[in-house]
Amino acid sequence: MSEKDIDEDWSFENLKPLETGKWTHNYHRYPAKFIPQLVEKLLDEYMVGKDGHIDDPFMGSGTTIVTAISRGLKASGTDINPIAYLITKVKSTPIEPEYLNDKINQLISKLNDSNIIPFITQNNIERINYWFTDHNKNELGKILRIIYEEEDPDIRDFYLVAFSHILKNCSLWLQKSTKPTRDLKKKPVEPKEAFRKHLLKMKKGNDEFYKIVPANVRENIQDYLNIKIGDARKQPVPDESVDLIITSSPYVTSYEYADLYQLSTIWLDLVEDQKEYKKEFIGTSHKKYENADLKSQTAKKIVNELIKKDEKTAKAVEAFFSDMEEVFNESFRILKHGGRCCYVIGNTKLLGVDILNAEVFAESLQHSGFKIDRIIKRKIPSKVLPQKRDEKTGRFTSAQKSNFESYPTEYIIIGLKE
Ligand SMILES: C[S@@+](CC[C@H](N)C(=O)[O-])C[C@H]1O[C@@H](n2cnc3c(N)ncnc32)[C@H](O)[C@@H]1O
Repeated sequence: MSEKDIDEDWSFENLKPLETGKWTHNYHRYPAKFIPQLVEKLLDEYMVGKDGHIDDPFMGSGTTIVTAISRGLKASGTDINPIAYLITKVKSTPIEPEYLNDKINQLISKLNDSNIIPFITQNNIERINYWFTDHNKNELGKILRIIYEEEDPDIRDFYLVAFSHILKNCSLWLQKSTKPTRDLKKKPVEPKEAFRKHLLKMKKGNDEFYKIVPANVRENIQDYLNIKIGDARKQPVPDESVDLIITSSPYVTSYEYADLYQLSTIWLDLVEDQKEYKKEFIGTSHKKYENADLKSQTAKKIVNELIKKDEKTAKAVEAFFSDMEEVFNESFRILKHGGRCCYVIGNTKLLGVDILNAEVFAESLQHSGFKIDRIIKRKIPSKVLPQKRDEKTGRFTSAQKSNFESYPTEYIIIGLKE
């Protein structure tokens, strides 16, 4: 598969940030999110002029879901990360622009009220103290108090997404890093100003999105949007009800999504048991692994190669492929006959072993009953996904430090349920 030619039509090299971040797509940063144009092109090819139902088992920041809603299609999906769910919900729910404008103005006028008592959960206070200066902790606590006083849940969630987005800039988290690293020399930004500015940016995005979404969808959004905090192996939809799945799965032992969003989960107190929560993520190195009987021969070979290098890594990769086999079975269950699933994935290397994710996905999809309809190879011009992995650890690292390429290209594996 690595010999396959790159399809330039799918690389979208000349897009500007204004285009990839249009509508609500720039509400919140999210590592390894895909660009809306990729989803739009897949919808153009497979959903033209149809009423339809799109699903994404790994929603992340909701690129697929937002795009489906923008076209008046039903959208369902899951993400195990409660922040991903919140971001997706808010990004796909258009709010009447004048109403939102009034609400934001009211909120901004409250920000300078000095009598507000900060809302700071005591459950995670040690970690809040670790990441935030006292000044910013109090300022953020005041903003959160004002947010929680908002009665309209859609407006409150809109504010919470703005709040979650500014946390990194307001904290001691090393700015250039996606991984949790503290920078004691950092001058964190002033929360009130950052919050105000980001709300206004989001408002602009909402107003554009509102115009695009068909009126009947805006007015009955609950009939179109069906998303849950939950596992990719259990989609919230009946058998044979979905037309198209567009998704990008996590990569094995690369990003620990549970760690990346801890600033938001600690402030919003979203996770009861951090240790158990981390184990729910597919591709994590946090969980203990059982032996799995993998169906894909390529997957077995990769695991056997890795065992010679490091058993823990081998087990993590085995668990990843095994979990993904279950996700593919679930995709098969929910798709209508004639429906397709599109899995976006790149190959990589761990401990010197080629991790041929694309080959394994294609084989495993066939074991789940799919016919491989098409494989697209594309360049990844996006700056969001770091292009390099450290050869020793297999983790993403800065381009200068690593000694080989990681995901300069990726594949879209398209399976057809005949
Ligand atoms: C590559 S990201 C998806 C990005 C998305 N396409 C976007 O545009 O933002 C993979 C997602 O899988 C989620 N994930 C990891 N394990 C999961 C599981 N067991 N069930 C559902 N989602 C999971 C992560 O939280 C992460 O949001």
